[in-house]
Amino acid sequence: MISLSDLKKIKAEGRKFSCLTCYDASMAKAMEIAEIDSILIGDSLGMTVQGRDSTLPVTIEDMAYHTAAVRRGNNHSFIMTDLPFMTYATLNDALVNSKTVMQAGAQMVKVEGGAWLSETVEVLTRNGIPVCVHLGLTPQSVHVFGGYKLQARTREAADKLIADCRAVVEAGAALLLLECVPAQLGKEITELFPEIPVIGIGAGHETDGQVLVVQDMLGLTFGRVAKFVRNFMKEQSGETAILDAFKAYHAAVKDGSFPAPEQTFQVEL
Ligand code: KIV
Repeated sequence: MISLSDLKKIKAEGRKFSCLTCYDASMAKAMEIAEIDSILIGDSLGMTVQGRDSTLPVTIEDMAYHTAAVRRGNNHSFIMTDLPFMTYATLNDALVNSKTVMQAGAQMVKVEGGAWLSETVEVLTRNGIPVCVHLGLTPQSVHVFGGYKLQARTREAADKLIADCRAVVEAGAALLLLECVPAQLGKEITELFPEIPVIGIGAGHETDGQVLVVQDMLGLTFGRVAKFVRNFMKEQSGETAILDAFKAYHAAVKDGSFPAPEQTFQVEL
């Protein structure tokens, strides 16, 4: 089973790692066969599985249920699980709720925010819970942002995001996830923290890892699809099409061909 040390080693060796969201055992098994390096049990399940408008209604019980299902189906990938909206607003909530998903099979928890989460990151890490901090476009704050939009478009905003990364890394964050930021910023942050693997979604091709929502990359998102998504299913056919789409995604992340320029936000900072 892939560990956090393996992801750090992949970064140290200048290689890339693949990550997909996953919520159930059969998809998890297909991802194991395709050798996907890591899986995120994302609170995006509020939309993809539960049919809701946002991630806000998702509960910690939902996350534990899906984490356990994924872990039972997959013995290979590194598993991280989102702490959903308002389940880490106090230190005690963060500890109790992290315990729930770690006992369900997660190897790491993911929280959304910035420097203000430093104490939470420090306390969780001290208690044996590795933390990934998700920065940039953080969907739990969609009502603060007023929609799903590119973040850190100016040098000033990019420097503020870098300062947030530095604060949480100093507090002990073991992984960073950047969503919807200019490619140049994804590259800068990846290079600034040589010990910390950085995963991107809409953050350019220079981050150490890439993540996509599985329904997006299988062409199962109807209506508007984000610019950073590539449909890997389109290129497949036959009864192993889903498995082949996962293999194609893994290969494209590893060889750096995904994301291509058309899936990248180019902004001069
Ligand atoms: O919940 C989720 O799927 C996520 C990804 C968008 C990174 O946080």
